[in-house]
Amino acid sequence: MDILESPEAMRAWRAGCPGAVGLIPTMGFLHEGHLSLVAASRRQDTHTIASIFVNPTQFGPGEDFERYPRDEDRDLRLLRDAGVDAVYLPPPSAVYPPGFQTYVTVEEVTRRLEGEARPGHFRGVATIVLKLFNATTPTRAYFGRKDAQQLRVIRRMVRDLDLGLEIVPCAIVREPDGLAMSSRNVYLSPEDRAAAPVIRKSLLASKAAWDSGTRDADALRTLAIRGITAQSRANLEYVSLADDDTLDELYGFVSGPALLSTVVRFGHTRLLDNIELG
Ligand code: PAJ
Repeated sequence: MDILESPEAMRAWRAGCPGAVGLIPTMGFLHEGHLSLVAASRRQDTHTIASIFVNPTQFGPGEDFERYPRDEDRDLRLLRDAGVDAVYLPPPSAVYPPGFQTYVTVEEVTRRLEGEARPGHFRGVATIVLKLFNATTPTRAYFGRKDAQQLRVIRRMVRDLDLGLEIVPCAIVREPDGLAMSSRNVYLSPEDRAAAPVIRKSLLASKAAWDSGTRDADALRTLAIRGITAQSRANLEYVSLADDDTLDELYGFVSGPALLSTVVRFGHTRLLDNIELG
């Protein structure tokens, strides 16, 4: 497994790859969710590149950039064992050299939900992901459905900027009790960790209502809200039922595919989860 630390070195390595190349962008502190994206690429692509970069421009002031969990040695071991061919691991100075001033802004689809809760977040995400695409020119790039809005933002950017690569969405990998895996789960106290599966359970209650014919947007949202707020350790930030593609909030009768998503805080930790309806 090769480790590349600058865009130039990454591009030179990439130039030697015939066939399909898959990219898995990550911020490290890897878990089974990340490794499922690696496995998906290994099934389809001739070469698999993973990137590890804790991207400062997607963290707001007062967010957890400094204390974001890191364990490079373990990450590299996991990626090697998973059969990754190359890891792109640039230092911040190689990504954002002095004088850096160019950013990518994806407009409508970033306005609500995480874009509203974390101003500037998706500008940072879109910028780093485009830079990762430019350094690796992948045939396919793999993203988890856990970050549902991020997936839609990247898809939009790929279409709008004619990037000509395939975005492969991958299923959410969960702990046995249903909690979506996340690098940030290590922040949870044992009590909060024990309470956190309420998120998944509450989304499933709403999905069960959908499956038995409920189509009223408010009723579907309310079921999820009730479940989450019944858990006293949980601080609900939002429950959204939105158009699956545009993420416009839905009201009244819901016909087409919809995304039910939520952010719940336990202590200082924001946990995201979602489920697709229809
Ligand atoms: P990170 O949070 O490390 O996640 C990297 C990728 O793993 C994302 O596509 C995310 O959706 C996916 N992922 C995380 N948890 C998952 C789970 N439980 N099941 C399936 N996939 C999961 O997302 C980022 O990093 C950054 O914003 C990045 C795209 C790398 C840009 O900096």
